[in-house]
Amino acid sequence: MRASTDPGVATAERYRAFAEVEARGMSACYERWAAGVAADPEIVTLIDLLPPVKRQPNLVFSAARLHGAVAGEYPAFAAWLREHWALVAATCLTHATQTNEPGRCAALLPALAALAGPLAIIEVGASAGLCLHPDRYSYRYRSADGGEWMLHPTDGPSPVVLDCAVTGPVPLPERMPDIVWRAGIDLHPLDVHSDADVAWLEALIWPEHDDRRSRLRAAVAVAYQETVEIVPGDLNDQIEALVTRAPAEATVVVFHTAVLAYLNERDRNRFAAQMTRLPVRWLSNEGQSVVPGVLERLGKAPAKESAFILALDGEPIALTQPHGRSLHWLG
Ligand SMILES: C[S@@+](CC[C@H](N)C(=O)[O-])C[C@H]1O[C@@H](n2cnc3c(N)ncnc32)[C@H](O)[C@@H]1O
Repeated sequence: MRASTDPGVATAERYRAFAEVEARGMSACYERWAAGVAADPEIVTLIDLLPPVKRQPNLVFSAARLHGAVAGEYPAFAAWLREHWALVAATCLTHATQTNEPGRCAALLPALAALAGPLAIIEVGASAGLCLHPDRYSYRYRSADGGEWMLHPTDGPSPVVLDCAVTGPVPLPERMPDIVWRAGIDLHPLDVHSDADVAWLEALIWPEHDDRRSRLRAAVAVAYQETVEIVPGDLNDQIEALVTRAPAEATVVVFHTAVLAYLNERDRNRFAAQMTRLPVRWLSNEGQSVVPGVLERLGKAPAKESAFILALDGEPIALTQPHGRSLHWLG
């Protein structure tokens, strides 16, 4: 677990780690805010009024921005937070970090398209289900030599175009996977038909990431067209029953991205054991030491610490940028 999300770590340290490890190079605003909080005992005392699991920087900053905190310098943010603390605290208590990044579909698509169809896909930890529509987005894969590979849904180009840089022998698909059934599981499903839920999804995107915000809005509009069931509950408790509901003639693919890090080791092992036991293909796209056995099978840790490992049935097949911006297929 990262220091910033570890409830056992002191708040100032969690914010310092968030500034230096997660926000640096990704969000100048969040780096300033987190470093500012780490050095501000008065704000740390406020944040410490929350239960430890709710003190994480990403949650507090997203809640603040949901209520109107404007990206900028730390002193203005600290003054704003003191004044609006009750609102921010209430949101932290009722919400969780559930960033839903449709861009991750670009990392999943070649693996999905290579499986024998028709497919029934189940996403565990689906948030609002934006990754449950991989066949409804357009893709632009670019190779290092300047080559470009476009793929569109069968009924024509999508308003959502996912860009992804590729290296290695990626099996770029000729056509979309044939997805005949889809469903998800989440502890707290978000609903693309709810303005409040969509506002929360937007607030979870970091301030400078305007491209991700536009993509989110476009993907919400696509997902809005068709209601996909997202079963509320724990993925370990719900998965077997959902697998049995999939059409018998389809290949059932259970996938997840940026989810298993939320589970403790015992629950990750329990999930991996279910994936081996159930009649499914298992596609995981997670941080390097998150899925039991995957890093060991890769042999050597990837040079980029932040890279996710994409694995099929527990075997590593690619390294991916956590938001799906790049895909390196293993030889
Ligand atoms: C960071 S979000 C990722 C959402 C989506 N997979 C994506 O890549 O855009 C993680 C999601 O996992 C869900 N989650 C965490 N632990 C879970 C569990 N034990 N069972 C079901 N869902 C869980 C959270 O509620 C959250 O919506």
